[in-house]
Amino acid sequence: MTQWPARLVLVGAGKMGGAMAQGWLDAGLAASSLTILEPKPSREIASLAASRGIALNPGIALPPPDMLALAVKPQSLDQVAPGVAGIASARTLVLSILAGKTVADLTARLPQARAVVRAMPNLPAAIGRGVTAAFANANVTGEQRGWCERLLRAIGAFYWLDDESAIDAVTAISGSGPAYVFALTEALAAAAERLGLEPELSMGLARGTVEGAAELMRRDSSTSPATLRRNVTSPGGTTAAALAVLQGPDGLQNLMIRAAAAARDRAAEMAG
Ligand SMILES: NC(=O)c1ccc[n+]([C@@H]2O[C@H](COP(=O)([O-])OP(=O)(O)OC[C@H]3O[C@@H](n4cnc5c(N)ncnc54)[C@H](OP(=O)(O)O)[C@@H]3O)[C@@H](O)[C@H]2O)c1
Repeated sequence: MTQWPARLVLVGAGKMGGAMAQGWLDAGLAASSLTILEPKPSREIASLAASRGIALNPGIALPPPDMLALAVKPQSLDQVAPGVAGIASARTLVLSILAGKTVADLTARLPQARAVVRAMPNLPAAIGRGVTAAFANANVTGEQRGWCERLLRAIGAFYWLDDESAIDAVTAISGSGPAYVFALTEALAAAAERLGLEPELSMGLARGTVEGAAELMRRDSSTSPATLRRNVTSPGGTTAAALAVLQGPDGLQNLMIRAAAAARDRAAEMAG
């Protein structure tokens, strides 16, 4: 069984960093292994630290940890890097979830760091149901990969990428994807109103349908979405009438390809 890193420093405990810390502890990381650096800890983080005995902003020089996990806003990196660069040694694995910050950006700002993993989680990580994909540079050891898998599986599903440039595509699919599902729910509710239903009922039907279908897909993970779709589509029936529109030439698939390509291009542009 892969071990946890013996000493882990988390820099930034906002929405994502806070969710990761909670997920790690729930999955069995020893509280004594974790140090959190966060200038304005939320009430949840302060009480988590107090109740579990986690070092929160210890205010002393820290010895180099096994892992330095960065979860600040990407635009804070330049300001944060000089303060944390001294914590890392050549043995420290840097795990970054900063959108748009490449391995080269990170090693330029943390010159001691040799082993760097760049990960892209998504919003449902906050409830332990995220999807994360990550790229490891050539200096990352097998043991360090094991730590990352353990830590990132604590907040949901996890995949390794062989190529750093794939992160832009991942950003376009799972990183931004929760917003597409929210937009789909809004569109379904708007269609319900167009068919004459009351707004409250429309939203209730749309939300309930998206939630229920997602849960069904989760519970029946061995059945493909295409099979689940076919199972509810009788030939010549109502669902078939809608799918003939959704799967037409201007339909959902081509629209999604264009939307995801726009997100991928924007991610590449932002990464410079
Ligand atoms: N949210 C998502 O869905 C998502 C998905 C994928 C990737 N990410 C990445 O996750 C990262 C964090 O995003 P977030 O949504 O969690 O942002 P956030 O809630 O703003 O969290 C960032 C935290 O870092 C703290 N911080 C700022 N300067 C610091 C310093 N010098 N030392 C230690 N902590 C410091 C911030 O404190 P202040 O509030 O005081 O500045 C804040 O609490 C981003 O880089 C983002 O690209 C997020």
